[in-house]
Amino acid sequence: MSQKPLHIVILAAGKGSRMRSDLPKVLHQVAGKSLLNHVIDSSLKLNPAKIHVVVGHGKDLVVDAFADHLSVERLSWVEQAQQLGTGHAVSQALPDIESNANVLILTADVPLIKTSTLSAMVDLMESCPLALLTAIVEDPFGLGRITRDDSNAVSGIVEQKDANAEQRTITEINSGIICAHRDQLERWLDLVGDNNAQNEFYLTDVVGLAYEAGNPIAAMHPDHNSEVNGINSRVQLAEVERLYQRGQAERLMNAGVTIIDPSRLDIRGDVEIGQDTIIDVNVVINGPTRIGSNVTIAPNCVISDSVIADNVTVHPNTVIENSDLGVGANVGPFARLRPGTTLGKNVKIGNFVETKNAQLDAGAKVNHLSYVGDASVGSNTNIGAGVITCNYDGANKHKTTIGKDVFVGSDSQLVAPVEIEDGATIGAGSTITAKVEANKLAISRGKQRQIDGWKRPTKAR
Ligand code: UD1
Ligand code: MG
Repeated sequence: MSQKPLHIVILAAGKGSRMRSDLPKVLHQVAGKSLLNHVIDSSLKLNPAKIHVVVGHGKDLVVDAFADHLSVERLSWVEQAQQLGTGHAVSQALPDIESNANVLILTADVPLIKTSTLSAMVDLMESCPLALLTAIVEDPFGLGRITRDDSNAVSGIVEQKDANAEQRTITEINSGIICAHRDQLERWLDLVGDNNAQNEFYLTDVVGLAYEAGNPIAAMHPDHNSEVNGINSRVQLAEVERLYQRGQAERLMNAGVTIIDPSRLDIRGDVEIGQDTIIDVNVVINGPTRIGSNVTIAPNCVISDSVIADNVTVHPNTVIENSDLGVGANVGPFARLRPGTTLGKNVKIGNFVETKNAQLDAGAKVNHLSYVGDASVGSNTNIGAGVITCNYDGANKHKTTIGKDVFVGSDSQLVAPVEIEDGATIGAGSTITAKVEANKLAISRGKQRQIDGWKRPTKAR
């Protein structure tokens, strides 16, 4: 890469009227991450001297959205008070950029751009002062068209609204991504006027100006056109979401994951999945999540911020959040693992079971209709149907500690704080309020009585 400092300018000041939204366009999301955040994260991988984000419409909302971004100190927010056009927007950032820099200009509404493509564009700065990223598309409507001269050299960009009938037939479009030497860019921008269909100062006009001044202009294409899909409407937002998801599904399939229907899996954030894992339909996985090998994920599961070891089976309609599942664990159908759940090897969590802040050691089983919260459960303990850890007294949470090889009979309530030692047995229907010692039977239900000669009440005639 070039020895010159690299500055990246991201254009994010526009209103995005075509979105018909109160939210600034650049805060709309693809795969659970804002458009602007996608572009910032791809930019950071180029290790630029600085990223200048030009903001205007909804400025405070946009800046606030990045308050917690890991690299917030590398972002410089530049205000464009009035949105007078993309050229005007770039001009606002130039004063903060050193003279010998290369300037890479990105638009926040083109989120799928790859770092490798951007890096190749910066490399073009070795041999010319201006480089464009263009693409040949089937439907160029709405986009800037690339004009070329008789020797096929790029001679300018004409916007849809300014193009004549012949120019509108051109299928080579401007992605909006441009790289230039800083000082020359400034000189060209000073000459840009707003005498056009939108009365805006177009960044794209620098191309014609550079050409007329005799500068060589490089143009390159991305590996895939999907990288330069822009988002101006909700229809395009949905299209880009699908393109992104298709890319994620292909990445996982190429790594050895079976995806029953790639159009019915959604990956949001960092997700790694091991070989021979099978993912059935209608699954959403939110990162950061790691899933091992030979795992089966059945239909309609949502998995977030979790670690799932090898050979785990997740049955249909299971929701897993911030949890850690050990090798061979078996959960669902209809299980809900809430944050802080840790399952050891071969633990079984059955239908309509909810866990939270709970550690279950190897071989423990909670098969039906139970709540296990703020609890630890020892290995091979069996918790019957409908057991509740009563962890909340209305003000504070308390812990339930259950040892190994315990048997908790169905429909029992364990009123925390309480401890059940190894090997103990709890009779069904018990309310346990005090410690149960090892290997003993605790039973607290009323004794069964039988009433002889009893008559059921009947209705008066
Ligand atoms: C722009 C290009 C067009 C290209 C297309 C690719 C111009 C004049 N046109 O058109 O050639 O084919 O992108 O997607 O550049 N913005 C500002 N300040 C402004 C105006 C816009 O920051 O005053 C920002 C917007 O927030 C957006 C980006 O610049 O992120 C592009 O603006 P947009 O209005 O979407 O331009 P397009 O019509 O898509
Ligand atoms: Mg646009």
